[in-house]
Amino acid sequence: MRRTILVTGGAGFIGSNFVLQRVAAGDRVVNLDKLTYAGNLGNLVSLKDSPDHVFVQGGIEDEAFIAELLLAHRPDAIVNFAAESHVDRSIVSPEEFISTNVVGTFRLLHASLAYFRALSSADQARFRFLHVSTDEVYGSLSKTDPAFSETNAYEPNSPYSASKAASDHLVRAYQHTYGLPTLTTNCSNNYGPYQFPEKLIPLVILNALNGKPLPIYGDGQNVRDWLYVGDHCEAIALVLDKGLVGQTYNIGGDSEKANIDVVTTICSIMDEVHPAGAPHSRLITYVKDRPGHDRRYAVDASKIKRELHWSQRETFATGIRRTIQWYLDNSPWVAEVTSGDYRKWITANYEARGAK
Ligand code: NAD
Ligand code: TYD
Repeated sequence: MRRTILVTGGAGFIGSNFVLQRVAAGDRVVNLDKLTYAGNLGNLVSLKDSPDHVFVQGGIEDEAFIAELLLAHRPDAIVNFAAESHVDRSIVSPEEFISTNVVGTFRLLHASLAYFRALSSADQARFRFLHVSTDEVYGSLSKTDPAFSETNAYEPNSPYSASKAASDHLVRAYQHTYGLPTLTTNCSNNYGPYQFPEKLIPLVILNALNGKPLPIYGDGQNVRDWLYVGDHCEAIALVLDKGLVGQTYNIGGDSEKANIDVVTTICSIMDEVHPAGAPHSRLITYVKDRPGHDRRYAVDASKIKRELHWSQRETFATGIRRTIQWYLDNSPWVAEVTSGDYRKWITANYEARGAK
């Protein structure tokens, strides 16, 4: 059934992939985004003339504005992607992470509850608030620990993961105390089209393309579990449709990789598809580690697979190839996002690190 969904943060990486997927599937999307450095309407140009996508610029912390927006558009669901999302930035300037991820989520919940309470009982029965979160709230695993399951204790280690953990707790409390019908998803590292190139995979693809150093923090043995963004978005849509109110669902790619292996895989594919500059692995440069760098993340996604019959379409091998090709094919998008402020961040983050 066609729904109206209020998507927050829908001009960012995962949010814009979700918006594109939902509009293609027949839903109507009201997209609220503050357009921080990470928000980009260029991700949504294909929806320029679509009557099913309404873009509104604003922050989730602006409760009065959200209240008006909810009354004006009367969504059947809210999906909250809006966040400050980069661990390294959270180490340099944690305050924005508290404002958006903690205070912003709180105000969004509060406005959503007032809206929910005024709905008819039939509309209340349909309404859902889905909060998109991360596996990083569970902390760091040793080599031999089992993967994170929904029952793991929260042990966040960075200002980013601590702020996401706080937001997850607020979502839980709004369901438990006030009966707001919430759902929470905790996903592993995403990659794919439209990812801002401050994160490992797009940064390495673009630096390899431009013959720049490929910076590896520490010893390169930190492990992440990687999931193609389209698969994450399908999982979110499934949880929205079929998830049980009050539950959390872990989402992951069954694809644990050490950072150095991710980078060498990108280098070998680049050698094939962009032979100028090969071997790209000569650009690998070890740099000073991230403070408090979590060693390993791994996700046990058996609950969403068993209960909601979710499965991923892309393996890491197919997804990374698609992603590299997307960055090679979309140079105008790349040129736009790598101008201006982006350069300042790259200079600040990598010059301070130097070589190891
Ligand atoms: P992103 O940084 O690419 O996008 C965030 C978006 O939120 C941007 O468009 C930005 O303009 C917007 N935004 C920021 N502050 C806002 C505010 N106060 N009000 C409204 N909009 C605001 O992030 P992403 O990688 O797309 O992540 C989206 C969500 O998914 C986040 O909540 C993140 O914690 C979660 N997540 C990300 C990953 C990942 O690997 N990227 C994995 C698991 C979960
Ligand atoms: P990132 O993409 O920032 O995601 P997260 O920190 O949320 O997992 O980083 C992924 C991994 O890659 C992480 O272990 C840090 C590492 N990394 C590098 O080694 N070099 C880099 O330049 C960046 C951005 C990340």
